[in-house]
Amino acid sequence: MENDVLQQAYDPEAFRRQGHALIDQLADHLSGVMSGMGPVLEYREPTQEWEDWETYLKEGNPADLFPKMLERTTQVHHPRCVGHQVAPPMPLASLAALLSGVQNNGMAIYEMGMAPTAMERLLTDWLCRKAGFGPDARGFLTCGGTLANLTALLAARRARGRDDVWNQGYSARHAVLVSAAAHYCIDRAARIMGMGSQGVILVPVDSEYRMDPAALEVAYTKALEDGLEPIAVVGSAPSTATGSYDPLAALADFSEKHGLWFHIDGAHGGAAFLSEQYRHLVRGLERADSVVIDGHKMMGMPVLTTALLFRNGADSYATFSQQAEYLLGESQEEDWYNLAKRTFECTKISGVFSWFAVWKHYGEGVFAQYLERQYHLAREVAALITDRPEWELACPPDANILCFRYRPEGLDGEATNQLNQALRQAFLEEGRFYVVQTRLKGEVFLRTSLMNPFTRVEDLSALLALAEQQGQAILAKGN
Ligand SMILES: Cc1ncc(COP(=O)(O)O)c(C=O)c1O
Repeated sequence: MENDVLQQAYDPEAFRRQGHALIDQLADHLSGVMSGMGPVLEYREPTQEWEDWETYLKEGNPADLFPKMLERTTQVHHPRCVGHQVAPPMPLASLAALLSGVQNNGMAIYEMGMAPTAMERLLTDWLCRKAGFGPDARGFLTCGGTLANLTALLAARRARGRDDVWNQGYSARHAVLVSAAAHYCIDRAARIMGMGSQGVILVPVDSEYRMDPAALEVAYTKALEDGLEPIAVVGSAPSTATGSYDPLAALADFSEKHGLWFHIDGAHGGAAFLSEQYRHLVRGLERADSVVIDGHKMMGMPVLTTALLFRNGADSYATFSQQAEYLLGESQEEDWYNLAKRTFECTKISGVFSWFAVWKHYGEGVFAQYLERQYHLAREVAALITDRPEWELACPPDANILCFRYRPEGLDGEATNQLNQALRQAFLEEGRFYVVQTRLKGEVFLRTSLMNPFTRVEDLSALLALAEQQGQAILAKGN
């Protein structure tokens, strides 16, 4: 190559040197962070962070870049990182992601991703079998639960809507029924699809934030009276805020009775079917028409890798098909390897490399063990919270998500909300724990997702102790 800088940019020897150095740094970093060393994050206001990187871009030493990136990001492998539902990726999965980044096979057509295409088929066929689907089931991977839910609802409309929206545009008044506690991406998907606000029917939940089947019946009847055409019921497995599993078998009965598509947003914990201990939580999932499972939540994968499974594989070919006759043609099974016909993406990341590598090296048991450990931990922590009179648990955990709040005696509702909001902010600025917050029925709760297999009950015990200490200091300042 004539161009010097280009030559440097592609130099395999420089890659070898930088790669070895980076892997060493990452391994040291992981062992330190996983043993609980250092803060979980060092929070800075967005403008300050931006200015700092702007200065670095102008004046910084390139050799400092990787260490600086490690320092300036949130440590998801830290046992006290208990905020959002993002897995600390299994290191082997991260290595496979590096390989994907080097090979850059775009997967849109078979030759641009032969291995990942075959692996996707094996992985999703296995997930379909484990889900309890029959031999006609098929799936594929896509980039994130949000996109997967949208893809599934498009398939639902294609299969159950009376109008051919794909070809004719919108005149129907379709609607989907979903729990009021579902992730916002379902609402967004329905609106993107043109259903408008009336097309997203939020079904009330019970005291443990699970969709109430009796309320579903009422909401459905009302929708018909309002001239809407419900096409699908969406169950959460589990919901985001509290990790509550909807009663899937009851939703399956309801969907069958009314001829509706039954979709399950199992982005967080759909794969509970891999665990003997927790399989009961997804009873009825095997009757769903489509199921979403995020690898980057409860399966230890790097972001973003999501499986979308269809009980009747032919439905997955219908979503983006331009010609209806193609759907029923014999070619559909022959064409399983041209994945872009079934996904939003044209070019798509080979996220399956990570999933497949872990599956092959450690066996399927590693996924069940991870989920079981975290779900079990949540039950232990819940017991710890319930034992403390000044703490309130929003509901007993189904999964590994826990919402709770500090409520010292004598504080009214609004003062409790303010205190817990202040606590969350104090945690963020202090950096020893990463905790988030949510509002449930108008009340502010601290929210933790126990994603890390190195988090112990003692870590959560320390979190409660620190919250009490800070809470008392906040209250004392306010008086
Ligand atoms: C239940 C549920 N569905 C969907 C999503 C969105 O998934 P993603 O962030 O992979 O797009 C989330 C994210 O937290 C979720 O909890």
